[in-house]
Amino acid sequence: MKAPSAPRRAPPRRLERRFPSPTFLGILLVALALLLSTGSDACEEPPEFEAMELIGIPKTYYEVGEEVNYRCKKGYFYVPPLATYTFCEKNHSWFPVTDTPCFRNTCPYVKDPANGQALLVNGTLAWGFQIHYSCQPGYYLIGEPVAHCELKGEEALWSSKPAICERILCPPPPKIENGRHTFSDVEVFHYLEAVTYSCDPIPGPDEYSVVGESTLYCASHQKWSSDAPECKVVKCPFPVVTNGKQISGFAKKYSYKATVMFECDKGFYLNGSDTIFCGGNSTWEPSMPTCPKVPTPSTAKPLSPSVSGPKPTHPKKPPVSNYPDAWVIALIVIIAILAVAVIVVGLYRLLQRKKKGKLQCHKYSHVMLEHPHGGLPHKGEY
Ligand SMILES: *[C@@H]1O[C@H](CO)[C@@H](O)[C@H](O)[C@H]1NC(C)=O
Ligand SMILES: *[C@@H]1O[C@H](CO)[C@@H](O)[C@H](O)[C@H]1NC(C)=O
Ligand SMILES: *[C@@H]1O[C@H](CO)[C@@H](O)[C@H](O)[C@H]1NC(C)=O
Ligand SMILES: *[C@@H]1O[C@H](CO)[C@@H](O)[C@H](O)[C@H]1NC(C)=O
Repeated sequence: MKAPSAPRRAPPRRLERRFPSPTFLGILLVALALLLSTGSDACEEPPEFEAMELIGIPKTYYEVGEEVNYRCKKGYFYVPPLATYTFCEKNHSWFPVTDTPCFRNTCPYVKDPANGQALLVNGTLAWGFQIHYSCQPGYYLIGEPVAHCELKGEEALWSSKPAICERILCPPPPKIENGRHTFSDVEVFHYLEAVTYSCDPIPGPDEYSVVGESTLYCASHQKWSSDAPECKVVKCPFPVVTNGKQISGFAKKYSYKATVMFECDKGFYLNGSDTIFCGGNSTWEPSMPTCPKVPTPSTAKPLSPSVSGPKPTHPKKPPVSNYPDAWVIALIVIIAILAVAVIVVGLYRLLQRKKKGKLQCHKYSHVMLEHPHGGLPHKGEY
């Protein structure tokens, strides 16, 4: 049942590729060729090697049992007993197939230089590899530190002459003004030999300071570990920080490397380093810090912020800030007093008028009785 089902599935796929592409045809042809070749008693071209080359002209077809011979390529040499030939086997492969009997030519052997080492970093003197030269401590290398073994024609040769190691020597270190160094009578210094500088004494209150490294040593050939120091009078200005104070390193005068520390007053913060030292140029290093004011929150009217601030018990500010309030209250009180006064005066006048009015009534009545030309009777006259 399996056999019929397979062809039934196959035709639709083949219909899709009714016209095979040229690459498909190519693959088919190659497969055919392979089939034919494996089917026949033949070997293909013998293998190529890095170190060996075929003797004679290679053929495209070799019969089983046929032998091909190789020889070492230029720059390689043969080491017995391994074979430099191979046979076309019955299974259509070449055997033996290896180029191990051919070795690269080697560069001349190099000895370690005196007081140094020549290191075969790749473990071989063969061309294409390198050798590294180095010297023992106290010696320096003259020549190329790396030599390459290179193939020149058929010969393997080093790219540079062998390096040598020479003893590290230093001339006497520099003389300095107003100072001296130890071992001043020595003409030649060896590796790591050191001298120490000191400054001459001077009369007076000031003295020279050794500015820079006081000890130098012969670090490499003709090179001291650093520049010579200087002998200088170093006096830094008295350290004063506005709105701050010095908290350590108190002295009458501040000479080289004197170190002081600062602190800012309350309400001021430190801008810069709290610790500074007197540098070789008679300036404080790093530069003197400053104590700027701690900024208050900058709202339009700092009434509530000053109350809600960290120090609400500040004695000066609240009266100043409350002043407008007192003024307004005073004004209101004055206005109130004035108003009361006006009302009182008004009432008084009103009462007075009323009294007057009654008196006049009495007068008029009196007048009315006495004079016929009184006020009220007047009207009645018309
Ligand atoms: C071919 O035969 C040789 C011995 O005749 C054998 O060493 C080799 O492994 C075989 N090669 C393959 C690819 O089977
Ligand atoms: C030889 O050794 C050096 C150092 O390890 C390495 O840099 C270099 O690539 C090696 N050369 C070869 C050809 O392997
Ligand atoms: C802090 O110090 C630096 C350098 O001294 C200065 O440029 C800067 O203006 C200072 N800042 C304040 C807020 O004072
Ligand atoms: C001292 O001043 C010199 C010359 O102005 C300058 O080259 C040097 O860097 C300064 N040294 C220090 C430690 O500031």
